[in-house]
Amino acid sequence: MNRIFSGIQPTGHLHLGNYLGAIRNWVKLQEEFECLFCVVDMHAITVWQEPAELVTNTRRIAAAMIAAGIDPERNVVFHQSGVPGHAQLAWIFNCVARLGWLNRMTQFKEKAGKNRENASVGLYAYPNLMAADILLYKATHVPVGEDQKQHLELARDIAQKFNNDYGVHCFPIVEPLIFGPATRVMSLRDGKAKMSKSDPSDYSRINLTDDAEAIRLKIRKARTDPEPLPEAPDGLEARPEAANLIGIYAALADITVEDVCARFAGQPFSRFKDELAQVAVATLAPMTAEMRRLEADPAHIDAILNRGAERAATLAEPVLREVHQIVGFLPPQ
Ligand code: TYM
Repeated sequence: MNRIFSGIQPTGHLHLGNYLGAIRNWVKLQEEFECLFCVVDMHAITVWQEPAELVTNTRRIAAAMIAAGIDPERNVVFHQSGVPGHAQLAWIFNCVARLGWLNRMTQFKEKAGKNRENASVGLYAYPNLMAADILLYKATHVPVGEDQKQHLELARDIAQKFNNDYGVHCFPIVEPLIFGPATRVMSLRDGKAKMSKSDPSDYSRINLTDDAEAIRLKIRKARTDPEPLPEAPDGLEARPEAANLIGIYAALADITVEDVCARFAGQPFSRFKDELAQVAVATLAPMTAEMRRLEADPAHIDAILNRGAERAATLAEPVLREVHQIVGFLPPQ
């Protein structure tokens, strides 16, 4: 049986990269698979979060998922802290994962920066909690953007080591699902940097809360090179900003990068940017409006997340019981 799990952190601004690299793919996958989609608030606090902002952002992410088309009835949509099993399994994985594995994690190095001594232990052990998120439900497939690939490799290593150490076939070896033309959306200011929630420049990203005017302005100001659009994608590797905007158009219009090049071949970027802004506004504006409508009723969002957490806990319960028995924890009476 295939089961999908994916998560998103309630930190900073939800942006076009999160939408195109992850949420939009989730909407497609819900047609075929049993899916759990989680707002990972426990991951968020690995770096400091203002408590009032964290709770607002948790609701905002849930609103964004639902506004994007994720059905909270058909899927399990919940907040991580609502299911204690995540922390319980993460502890066991802290004892399975090796220091050497975590030392190789590039995202820790990036996030901790130079002052590593001052990073939280949680930030270091972050990938173990992520493995626990997935394996607590024995999920088989994990749809993410490209930046999560290394973390998923670690989840596979943890599953394998647990199974080997205890001589069991308990956990599946998860498969990452990284697909679509926008698996790595780049900053609008720098084609070599990932579009990110934490970039200090708001012009680097399109937020899902931006209005039409802001979207148009940011696309107009996006960095490009002086060349027109090419006839075909060959050679775009050397033009990261151009490649990024073309990829974003392809993803938004749901066509291939080849089709975008064929359609706009030889046109200047100024004209292409107008078209890109139009398709971005057409896709995002209804979603933003729906997000706002949902956010106006926080009690309704809380009810959805809490109900989701109850359903998730029911799925987690037998897995946790099995793991406790395998590890040798005293059985409950
Ligand atoms: P997070 O919150 O950083 O991002 C959520 C999802 O958005 C994708 N993404 C992008 N895709 C394309 N281009 C970008 N510029 C871009 N930026 C972000 C991410 O790849 C991700 O799919 N560790 C995870 C959250 C997590 C998780 C999990 C994911 C916790 N537990 C279990 C999967 C399974 C994270 O920080 O995602």
